[in-house]
Amino acid sequence: MQFFVDTADVAEIRDLAEAGLLDGVTTNPSLVMKTGRDMFEVVGEICGIVDGPVSAEVAATDYETMLKEGRRLAEIADNVTIKVPLTFDGLKACRTLTGEGHMVNVTLCFSANQALLAAKAGATFISPFIGRLDDIGLKGSELIEEIRAIYDNYPAIDTQLLAASIRTPNHVKEAALAGADIVTVPPAVLRGLIDHPLTDKGLAAFLSDWKKTGQSIL
Ligand code: E4P
Repeated sequence: MQFFVDTADVAEIRDLAEAGLLDGVTTNPSLVMKTGRDMFEVVGEICGIVDGPVSAEVAATDYETMLKEGRRLAEIADNVTIKVPLTFDGLKACRTLTGEGHMVNVTLCFSANQALLAAKAGATFISPFIGRLDDIGLKGSELIEEIRAIYDNYPAIDTQLLAASIRTPNHVKEAALAGADIVTVPPAVLRGLIDHPLTDKGLAAFLSDWKKTGQSIL
C-alpha cells in the first residue's frame, strides 16, 4: 500500500519525504486555507519535494470552469493531480481531463455507486472518505471493502482506491485490510503509526542494560 500525506504543510511534507515515507500528497481547499498561503505557491513547493502525485483541488462547481481551473493547476508541475468533486460536472470534467492526459482524483466519495461512476469517468484515483462516514455513525471502512470487491470484479478498471479522511491509526489498518491501494493520512496520524508503548518500554530497558556494560559502539 502506498502512503500519501494529507496536508499542505510544507515543513511536514519535507520531513516525512526525507524519511522516505511518502509516495504522494493530497491537499484540499481547507488544508490550503490552514496554511494561509497562496495555493499555486504551496502546491509548486510541494511538487518540488515529492515526486509522486500531488492533488490540488478545483474550486469551481461547473464543468467549464472546472476544466479551466484544472488545466491551470496542471501547469504547476507534471506531478499535479487535479482533484474534482464527485458531482455530475465533476465526473464530466474527470473524463475530459483524463482524456487530455492529466491525472484526476475524484474526491468526496461516500458510496460504492459513486466509485463505480468515477471509474467509468476514467478517474486515476477515487477518494472515499472513511472518517466522515464514521462521523455520521456508519462504518467507513466497509465502503473501502465494497469498492475493492466491486473494482476487482472488473479487471478493466484501473482507478486506484485511495482511502481518505483518515483520522486514526486504526483507520489505516482497516484501509490496508480492506485492500486500499493508497491511504492519505494527516501527518500526526502518520507519525502515530510508529508509536507503541512496548517499543518505548523495550528500548528503555535495552538502553539501560547497554549502559551497564560500559561499552560504546563508536
Ligand atoms: C482527501 O483527499 C481529503 O483531503 C481528506 O482526507 C479529508 O479528510 P477530513 O475528513 O479529515 O477533512
